[in-house]
Formats: sequence, C-alpha cells, structure tokens
Amino acid sequence: MTTETHNPRGDADRPIAKPGILDITPYRPGKSTAEGFEHPVKLSSNENILGCSPLAKAAFVAAAERLNLYPDGRSNALREAVAKYYDLDPERLVFGDGTDEILHLISQVYLEPGDNIVQGQYGFGAYAIGARACGGEVRFAPEPQLRIDVDEVLKCVDARTRLVFITNPANPTGTWISSAELRRLHAGLPPSVMLVVDAAYAEFNTDPAFDDGLELARAADNVIVTHTFSKLHGLAALRVGWAYCSAEAADAIDRIRPPFNTSIAGQEAAIAALGDEVFQAQSLTLVEKWRPWLTQQLGGLGLEVTPSAANYVMARFPATPGQTSGEAEAFLASRGYLVRNVANYGLPYHLRITIGLEEHNRAVVDLLAEFLGRAG
Ligand SMILES: Cc1ncc(COP(=O)(O)O)c(C=O)c1O
Repeated sequence: MTTETHNPRGDADRPIAKPGILDITPYRPGKSTAEGFEHPVKLSSNENILGCSPLAKAAFVAAAERLNLYPDGRSNALREAVAKYYDLDPERLVFGDGTDEILHLISQVYLEPGDNIVQGQYGFGAYAIGARACGGEVRFAPEPQLRIDVDEVLKCVDARTRLVFITNPANPTGTWISSAELRRLHAGLPPSVMLVVDAAYAEFNTDPAFDDGLELARAADNVIVTHTFSKLHGLAALRVGWAYCSAEAADAIDRIRPPFNTSIAGQEAAIAALGDEVFQAQSLTLVEKWRPWLTQQLGGLGLEVTPSAANYVMARFPATPGQTSGEAEAFLASRGYLVRNVANYGLPYHLRITIGLEEHNRAVVDLLAEFLGRAG
C-alpha cells in the first residue's frame, strides 16, 4: 500500500473543508419558538395549517409496526401511486428525503467546479447551497417586479451554465410565471442546460394560465420538475419529495441517491395522502379563501402586498423606525405569532406570512393594525 503524502490544502493538522464550503451561508429555517409561548402559531414555514390527511396519519401509525425494517429503496408502491395520479412514466420518477435532497443531488450530478447555475434574484435558498457545495457559481437573474423575468434569466446563461432553477410559484414572493413564459424560457435555453422547475407550491395555483411544468418535462430531456408532499399534503415532517425527468436524468440521480432516503412511514403516508382528495380540497379551499382576504386586509393597513399564488403572502413594511419588518416580526412574536423575515433573501422590508386558520389570519391583521397604530 502506498501512502499519499502530498497535501493540496496546505499543512493543516486537521481535516479542512474543501474550498468554498465555509463561505456558504447555511439555510435559515422559519422560526419555531416565541419566548413566553409554549405553542406559538407558526406561520413562518409555509406548512399546512390543517395538519395532514387522517388517512396519512393512520398509515404513519401503522408503519410503526415495521420500524425494524429498511424501506423499499425504490419506493415502488409510491412510485406507482404518483405515476398513476399524475399520468407519468414510473421509471422517470426519483424520490427524495424531501425535495431539498433532490435539489442537492441535481447539483451533484450536473455541476463541476467553475460551472454555474442561474436562479431568480429572490429564489429559494437551497439551490445556491447545493451548487456552491459542488464548486458552482450562482448567478442571480434580476426580478424587477419581484417576479421571474424570463429575459433576465436567459441573459445570465453562458457556456458554463448547467442548471437553471425556477420556483413556480416562487418562494418567498408568491409570484409566478405562466405556462407560455415557462415554455419561452425553455425554448431559449441550449439543450445542454437543465431547467429545474421547483413546483413545491404548484397545487395552490389554479390559474388556467399556469402549469407545474410536467407537460414540458414529459416532452423534453432537459427539464426536471420537483414536487413535494410537505405543503398541500401537510407531510413536511416525513420528508418526501419527488422529481420527474428524462429516464437518463433519473438514472443519473438514482446512482448517487442514498439507497434508503425515504422511510416506510413517509412512503405509506404519502400514498394515503395522494388518495385523500377531500383533505387536498380542504387545504386548497382554505388558502383560496384567506389568501385574497389577507392580501386585501394587509393592503388596507397601508402595506404593499405582492399578489401570491402560494400558501403565503409577502407584505412590504415601511422603512420608518418603529414600523419596519423586523420590528413587526418581533411584535407578532411577542404576541405568539411567528412569521418569516425574508431579509436574507435580499428583501429587508418584507415579511412572509403563511395562510393560517381564520382566527390566525384575523389575529395577524388585528395585531399588525395595532403595531402600525391603525387599530380601530
Ligand atoms: C420553493 C421550495 N422548494 C422546496 C422546498 C423543500 O421542500 P421539501 O420539504 O420537500 O424538502 C421548500 C420548502 O419550504 C420550498 O419552499
């Protein structure tokens, strides 16, 4: 056996993270604690305020009988269920420990150091983390109206671009691009660039001009669409996400995917959730009822609210000391309501608020009226 004596990272006397890793800003999840409240109302992570399907819960409980067993590494039953529900080729599906894992795997498959990814200026933070971990450069396409601008995205693409990430509807803005714009974006990309459409919130957008990208992914080799069971289905704790792509891309991702990345409980709860259209409809109805209400009420308080197609809204606060987004966030937390400060997305004046139950939405509006000195 030969011993490698050359140390390309200097003469450090301890293991050193590879270049770039310690420059990565870690993902910051929505807050989950508020001082003085054992159970604050959490409107900071776009979770499903209704919980999950009772059928999914029963499947989860039943899975407790098999905690000693490894799960089916190919998620075959879930694969069949998703393929049937969405009319997809089961062989072109990939399952992940949440969409988050799949997004990381995509970067690992396609990026070499010096390659780049393009995403929207306010895009979801996970793409950049995964890309930077692979030595990729991250390019942010301006979003002049807080919304993906296809031309700006295309302008960022060059010979070293391998991946373009679009969240549709977007997080944290809630804005979206139409099917026609998505197709125009795809048509403007060279075939060597993979377009990744993150459809985590797609179920909340029922506008006829919108689609989740699956139609495009069925037809084109350079499109990956990701979906999650965390939002509409309310299974965030169980970490189940999936991607649809070409057979070649699915094969590549599967080669590096940890073999047992989705649990028995996750797979079975997800199958049950997919079959519970009553719960899905309840979740969508709640969002469709309270999203316009919250938008209008917050607007009535003088806040600028970005029209949203997801299960949250984003509101802009004044820069005036005493009325800023940071102070509003702290005020709401002091009353037991957690919302998301999105300054780390480059939006220092905004807060993102997940749609809650009626009493939560009303309370948020009343508390913000009090905070802004507009209480009636
Ligand atoms: C845009 C977007 N993509 C992906 C995810 C991650 O989803 P998952 O829970 O499936 O990992 C989230 C979660 O908040 C998200 O907002």
